[in-house]
This record gives sequence, structure tokens and C-alpha cells, in this order.
Amino acid sequence: MSDHAIQIRNLTKSFLNKGTKDEVLKNINVDIERGETIAVIGQSGCGKSTLLNVIGGFETPDNGSVLFEGEKVSSPSRRSVMLFQNYGLLPWRSVQKNVELGLEDTNLSSAERKEKALHYLQMVGLEDKWDRFPHQLSGGMQQRVAIARALAIEPELLLMDEPFGALDTFNRYYLQDELLKIQKESNTTIILVTHDIDEAIYLADRVFIMSTNSGDIQREVVINAYKPRDRSGRDFQYFRKLILEEFQLSSATPSLEYNI
Ligand SMILES: Nc1ncnc2c1ncn2[C@@H]1O[C@H](COP(=O)(O)OP(=O)(O)OP(=O)(O)O)[C@@H](O)[C@H]1O
Ligand SMILES: [Mg+2]
Repeated sequence: MSDHAIQIRNLTKSFLNKGTKDEVLKNINVDIERGETIAVIGQSGCGKSTLLNVIGGFETPDNGSVLFEGEKVSSPSRRSVMLFQNYGLLPWRSVQKNVELGLEDTNLSSAERKEKALHYLQMVGLEDKWDRFPHQLSGGMQQRVAIARALAIEPELLLMDEPFGALDTFNRYYLQDELLKIQKESNTTIILVTHDIDEAIYLADRVFIMSTNSGDIQREVVINAYKPRDRSGRDFQYFRKLILEEFQLSSATPSLEYNI
């Protein structure tokens, strides 16, 4: 059996906007191995979320295909989970019930569902907020509930669209480390869209840089450094410079993060 969790072949996707056809993804061809972590970066509007949506079966390609474990993706699968950019929390459900959402169609008893939900809520530091509703939480807390909900499903494929964007630095670093641990324990395949170059370098085995106008992957950078990585180490600086150069930002004033 192939080691590829995902195979993308000649993928093209366009949207009709006011009668004009916007070709957002054009002829994308990539293979992603089982257990790999891929970060997708690129400027706003270049098609990162669209790519993730097609991989997750939430959007249909115009041409080409996505195979997940050898099978053509045509609708969302129970074996993969999408963490949407807008969190997708249900406002009428409590925090705990939101986290339990993806567990309701499983064989788990209600006590087991509750236990799992509380475990992942504890991981994201929100166990004491289990009975609150989304509107009673800050934006970063809502994002952490969405992360807990995605992780609770323990999927084979985790698709994450800017999962840590609303978090403060400490929570972000902490949850990045938790994600590394989960990935290592369960060999989850992860595709993560991020605007944060440091996050991409810290987490990914490969970084896909999407081009702004042509709808394809402009460059793939292999991050061949051992994990966990030293954010202030020389390897890290090297990859940061390489990626910044790709965005022609290498003369930018150095700072902790580069948001693109
Ligand atoms: N459902 C849709 N209908 C029409 N156009 C769409 C739709 N979804 C996305 N687009 C267009 O496709 C392009 C890519 O959008 P996408 O959401 O994939 O960008 P992105 O790279 O994720 O951006 P950001 O970093 O801002 O989240 C944009 O021009 C957007 O307007
Ligand atoms: Mg997006």
C-alpha cells in the first residue's frame, strides 16, 4: 500500500464572481505522506482555504482530483476533520456540547463522550468553561474550543485553517507543542494553513508556498530539522530567511513573527 495519505492530481478550482471566472487553484499536483505535517502559506486571497476545503470534500474541484487513502474525495469523511477559519461553533450549544459534536455518531457512551470532551478541554485550558456558551467566551477561547473539538475526534487527517491565529503567544506556543505531541503519538497527517512563518517552520515537515496570482504552489520548502525545533536556533533562522526571500521580504526588520 502507498504511504501517501493524500494525492492531488491536476487540481483546478474556480469561482464565478459577478459573471467573471476566478481561477483560484490551477493545476496543483502534490503527494502528502501519511503522518506528514504540511504548512500552507501565502498572501490573503491566494486560495489556501479553498485548497483545504477541496481536500476536505467541502468544495468540488472543476478538474482533477484529490485521493484520500487511495479513494477519491467527493464529500467530507469521518476519518478527517476540518478546523474552519471561523471556528464553526454552534452558538446554542455549551462549550462541552460543542466539543462532543463530532463524537455523537460514534459508539461512545454519553459518559465516554463527556470524558473525552473534558480531556481535550483541559488540554486547551478551558475545562472550567465547559458549561459556557460560545458568545460568553473571548475570540481566543472560542478558537481553543474549536481546536478541542477537532482533536477530540482523533482523526487520521487533520485540516486546520489558521488554528492558532486568535491566540496569544503563550497559548499558541503551548498548543503548537500539544499538536506536535498528538501528531507523534497517533501519526496524524496534518495540513495546516497559517499566516505565521515561524509557526510553519516550527510544525511542518514541508511548507507549501502558494503563489499570489497563478493559483499554484510556487515553492515547496522541506524543513529537515529535528523536532521539537529551537525557535532561536540557526536552522530556524535559515528557513525563515529562505521563506522570507521567497516573499521578497528578506530585508524586512527582524521581529519574532512575520505575518504575511
Ligand atoms: N465560495 C466562494 N465564492 C466565490 N469566490 C470565492 C469563494 N470562496 C473563495 N472565493 C475567492 O477565492 C479566492 C481565494 O479565497 P480563499 O478563501 O481560498 O483565500 P485564502 O488564501 O484562504 O485567504 P485568507 O488568507 O484571507 O484566508 C478569493 O479571491 C475569494 O474571494
Ligand atoms: Mg483563508
